[in-house]
Amino acid sequence: MMHYGRILVVVAMLTLFLSSNPLAGVNLPAFRAEEASRLIGMLLSAGRVVIDRNQALINDPNKGDKGFGPEEFERQLIGEFRTRTGVDLTKPALAHLPGKVTELLGELRQTSKEVVKEAQPVINQAGVEYKNFIPAIFGTRVSERFSAKTGIRLKQTTLQPRNPKNAPDAYEAAVLHRLLTQPSQFVTISEMPKGENTLRLLIPIYYGPDCLQCHGEPAGQVDISGFPKEGAHEGDLAGAISVSMPVEQR
Ligand code: HEC
Repeated sequence: MMHYGRILVVVAMLTLFLSSNPLAGVNLPAFRAEEASRLIGMLLSAGRVVIDRNQALINDPNKGDKGFGPEEFERQLIGEFRTRTGVDLTKPALAHLPGKVTELLGELRQTSKEVVKEAQPVINQAGVEYKNFIPAIFGTRVSERFSAKTGIRLKQTTLQPRNPKNAPDAYEAAVLHRLLTQPSQFVTISEMPKGENTLRLLIPIYYGPDCLQCHGEPAGQVDISGFPKEGAHEGDLAGAISVSMPVEQR
């Protein structure tokens, strides 16, 4: 784990408890809030990866029904999340996790499925190649709904956002600037900035080969989604998934 600015030793702060939103209203100690935030960020990340992995299928203009419905999406989501975190979402009570965390992950899983379900008419359209259902659009829809339901702010962010809603706040911008100067690494950055009762957690996203048809070279050329390409290369920092979870001090 890396740290930014004033380091927070979350595990030591057992006096801090989570509160103030309907779903996460029980008392989670701060180290639990850190764990919950990480799992929430990882589940959104896993959903984005599943969309990316099925992008060629989704964009196939020669096929109507793609067989990529909410159930199939969920099956792949559960597999990807298990691979990354070791947590099996099919277990009724997730091993070692408090009930509230299980509930939050269930909510995010449900929201992710809903977004895939609602996109079915678009996904199953024949004769159209680019359908504007890509990891970032999926991520924006899911995180907006999840945030509204839970009071836990979940978003995708980057220094030069295509979607202004993804603009970084001061904290996110500082972490992203720092990540730019470091080699790619799959880490989670978390801390509780001084004077705030909010746990902040960022999971960096790096560009893979699939991303470059839109975000790659030549910079400025308009991509299939209608935006100018960023001129990025494989392995460059694309942005981050950001989670802000309220934690109350007692
Ligand atoms: C088909 C073109 C396309 C592909 C492929 C694509 N993106 Fe994007 N990306 C977009 C568009 C369009 C947006 C703006 C989405 C929105 O309006 O919310 C975006 C937004 C983003 C954002 C959110 C920040 C922002 O700019 O608003 C991130 C992070 C991102 N993309 C990373 C990736 C990564 C990583 C991949 C590969 C896994 C990828 N993208 C593949 C077109 C693409």
